[in-house]
Amino acid sequence: MATTIQVKLAERSYPIHIGKGLSFASTLDGQPGTRILIVSDSHVDALHGQAVCAQLEGRGMTCLRAVVPAGEETKSLKWVEYLYAQAASAGLDRNAILVALGGGMVGDLAGFVAATYLRGVRFVQIPTSLLALVDSSVGGKTGVNLPQGKNLVGAFYQPIEVDADLDLLKTLPQREYVSGLAEVVKYGIIWDASFFHLLEKHQDGLLARDPVLLESVVARCCEIKAEVVAMDEREIGPRAILNFGHTLGHALEKAGGYGRWLHGEAVAMGMHFAAHLSVKIEGFAPADAARVSALLTALRLPLRPEGEAVPAWPVLRGAMQSDKKTLARRPRFVLSRKLGAAVVGCEVEDSLLEEVWNVCCK
Ligand code: GLY
Repeated sequence: MATTIQVKLAERSYPIHIGKGLSFASTLDGQPGTRILIVSDSHVDALHGQAVCAQLEGRGMTCLRAVVPAGEETKSLKWVEYLYAQAASAGLDRNAILVALGGGMVGDLAGFVAATYLRGVRFVQIPTSLLALVDSSVGGKTGVNLPQGKNLVGAFYQPIEVDADLDLLKTLPQREYVSGLAEVVKYGIIWDASFFHLLEKHQDGLLARDPVLLESVVARCCEIKAEVVAMDEREIGPRAILNFGHTLGHALEKAGGYGRWLHGEAVAMGMHFAAHLSVKIEGFAPADAARVSALLTALRLPLRPEGEAVPAWPVLRGAMQSDKKTLARRPRFVLSRKLGAAVVGCEVEDSLLEEVWNVCCK
């Protein structure tokens, strides 16, 4: 059984199919002769590349694979150029489909290539990490990093379909799976208090990847994301609620050289920080901030950097400066008034930021 959720964006609308196996991947069906370029990283290609390619060839399509190194460093213009060359030598035409088979890095990179190669070719996301499934594969944000900061070059470019095959999660290392749970928790905080409560009730099932629970949790996250994106595709306003925990999270990722913490781990620390900041300036109940921290901890996510090399506040404050949500050199925060209701564009005094960092994160 598959669940289908529609992202409603007029002529750019598309389905997210969530299920097991790829038999539900409707766009990738019935188009014999179509050339497909599957982009994945070396880990995912070794695990799933051949099988996915064989399925598509079985449906009469011509399938080629382009493999890039695993790791966030690959999300760069150098690898965009590499993929343009692969697309050109594979003879991809305007009728071709570029498939991103992988986690967030592959989806963002391949999506940007799809947005720009031949001024845009069709694009399908097959996410293989929980983080990509519930967040980055939906909503059309594509792009790469520059040495100056994350995601500084990109395009809004919607896929024509997202095929979320939960079987692909079976090979995901536990640390990466847990990192994806941070984005799951985020939806409860920013949009749906009863979903937050459900996550509290099912912590063990979530950690054990209970398949029935997982399918419904992934579907709810995609539903929320689809609703937010349909309201504000290009992040003029409310879509920014999806960045809850990301202002500090991105700064931590940068301070850690993009290798020390996984994205979800950095976002978990950022959400703990944002919840406590929300108590100070948005009237968020201290008991609810404590629930946020308790749920993150129960899901084995970090609340603060541990060990000797805790980034110094001036380093983090400096890293926030290059965040693309920064306006007039002041970072903007997404905060929360109560569970299920987020506020965007909050400017916070530097002294308060430092105080909350010292009290709850150091
Ligand atoms: N990952 C945040 C967004 O898609 O807007």
